[in-house]
Amino acid sequence: MKNIYSNIFKYNKKNLSKAKNILKKNDIIGVPTETVYGLAGNAYSNIATKKIYKLKKRPKKNPLIIHYHGLKNLKKDAYVDHRFLKLFKKFSPGPLTYILKKKKKSKICSLANSNLKTIAVRFPKNKIIKSLLKNLNFPLAIPSANISTNISPVNAFDVIDEFGKKINFVLNGGRSKIGLESTVINLNGPIKIFRPGLITNKEIGKILKKNVLISKKIKKLNSPGLLKKHYSPGIPMSLNCKKIDNKAAFIVFGKKYKKDKNIFNLSTRGNLKEAAKNLYKILRKIKNLNFKKINVVKIPNQGIGIAINDRLKKASQ
Ligand code: TXA
Ligand code: MG
Repeated sequence: MKNIYSNIFKYNKKNLSKAKNILKKNDIIGVPTETVYGLAGNAYSNIATKKIYKLKKRPKKNPLIIHYHGLKNLKKDAYVDHRFLKLFKKFSPGPLTYILKKKKKSKICSLANSNLKTIAVRFPKNKIIKSLLKNLNFPLAIPSANISTNISPVNAFDVIDEFGKKINFVLNGGRSKIGLESTVINLNGPIKIFRPGLITNKEIGKILKKNVLISKKIKKLNSPGLLKKHYSPGIPMSLNCKKIDNKAAFIVFGKKYKKDKNIFNLSTRGNLKEAAKNLYKILRKIKNLNFKKINVVKIPNQGIGIAINDRLKKASQ
């Protein structure tokens, strides 16, 4: 019997070249990034992009993030301004996605950005995806490697958990370092955070020397990642809980909680970055253990805690 994990390939020269060849044929592979794992395809190809939407069962009106190795290639596809350059210098490569105006002569296929006038672009830092991008002559459309509305994958096995044999090549990069998706910032028109992440509005505000707000209400088409239900374990979830309900899985944070088989601690030392890294891992575990309900304690709403609370809120819709 074929072991499904035979779809997972370790990072070496030979497999990198295999990955490259699959992408050149406009097929889709699973890839690690520092935030979460993604499904990668040629962003210039309508065929590849279509496959991504189909695999993810993603509504076509929800655009993909285009991943680049460097600025030179980006400039063929999007307009950059001084605000972008300042942020790029400070935060890229890394977990920040910029919404920029798309150039008319850009080769990014219109399906990849849902026919919008803008494209979302990111320069990932993970060395595996970076070396892959460096060796390709096209950028990659890479959404998170989960079926639409499900929990995002944070290791190679999660990608197989989502797609089974439908994905037959995943590059293994170990656990995702950050564990939550990139911060998305709008730079087309008024600056706003569309999706909070590790890089906070405060840090961005410092660089731009202005107050940067997190968008609360947003027009549907602007960023469907802000659509209500998302990142969901498919189980009822209650937030800001205080009491332990023995029938529910209890997600906690900090050292005051005892160990038990229904208690899942995001970070015993009360560290928010560690909690972010553990969040999707724990949600997937709880889902696979067939709990019928999840309770979550209150998580401090600062730093990456803002992004954790954003995902928890959407997961609980
Ligand atoms: O960390 C990440 O960003 C991961 C890794 C794999 O790079 N990718 C990721 O992609 O989270 P995805 O497809 O799961 O989320 C992309 C988000 C969605 O909320 C989408 O609506 C938004 O970016 N987006 C993409 N293009 C946009 C655009 N032109 N305007 C506004 N929002 C856009
Ligand atoms: Mg996603």
